[in-house]
Amino acid sequence: MLWWTSHYDFTVMRHIISTKTLSIEWVASLFSRAQSLKLGTQKPLIGGGIGSLLFYENSTRTKNSFHLALQELNYKILDFQIESSSATKGENITDTIQTLANLGANLFVIRHGSSLIMQSLEKYFLNHPIHIINAGNGMNEHPSQALLDLFTIAESVGFDYASLRGQKISIIGDCLHSRVARSNIHLLKRFGLQVTLVGPPNLVPWGFEDLGVEVSHNLKQGIEGSSFLMVLRIQKERQNANVISSLSEYNKYYGLSESMLSQASLLDSVRVLHPGPVNRNIEIESSLLDSDRSLVNQQVLNGRFVRIALIEELQKTMS
Ligand code: CP
Repeated sequence: MLWWTSHYDFTVMRHIISTKTLSIEWVASLFSRAQSLKLGTQKPLIGGGIGSLLFYENSTRTKNSFHLALQELNYKILDFQIESSSATKGENITDTIQTLANLGANLFVIRHGSSLIMQSLEKYFLNHPIHIINAGNGMNEHPSQALLDLFTIAESVGFDYASLRGQKISIIGDCLHSRVARSNIHLLKRFGLQVTLVGPPNLVPWGFEDLGVEVSHNLKQGIEGSSFLMVLRIQKERQNANVISSLSEYNKYYGLSESMLSQASLLDSVRVLHPGPVNRNIEIESSLLDSDRSLVNQQVLNGRFVRIALIEELQKTMS
């Protein structure tokens, strides 16, 4: 059934680049597998190739959980550190991938600052038997993050996907620069959630409505009626570009707190997500992050199992 659904795109199985083309059936099947791995009722399907974690930007969660996932699947992992690699001598990414592929690497987990890099790599390596997982590129997409976010949301309702239809999720913060927001919007809407983006006008411009989401520049109004709140990291580096006037002003108008949840009359059942890393007491109050409402620790844990299941999916097309 997975192989002929309308949203299915065979390139998705060779590479995991975007959430745009992932069908409900494919995702539900992936989650069923990830859930079994988490519960320990099924074991990882050993693949055993050679994996390379090419992170041109820093990471804690994504890199380490992919590292563990590859280990669980019995991969050898090439130790690529950008600072000590030949990238510092000017080697471009395609030559680096080709070099590591010549050494036998067949799976590349790649994080890069360019929003266009994944399209270029897909084209460049079209006839090459390597597999690419996008671990976050520029302002474009971060598909494994969105998958683990949706897994965590689905888990919180006992994987009753029908019950998610019509529920409201507010994504709060710097949506403009967020690859996490973009990958989540595609996926959450496919599962029938109503998505509202909340933030200052320069970080949540009206153009986002073309993606079928609501936009609000008022935190209280934007989160009213939500079942889930996804808080984005405020990218401090944007302050240097004068996108944010000051972190304290951002916190005053858009920082999520218990008090704000109560002003917006949100029920105890509202759940809070954050992809991490978190700036405590800037985009979210520290006590709220550590409260029972927060699903952040589950997000990190679930990332490990979702990523094992993702690599297993690619293994189905490995020669
Ligand atoms: N959420 C996320 O991508 O975190 P890292 O930058 O730590 O991988």
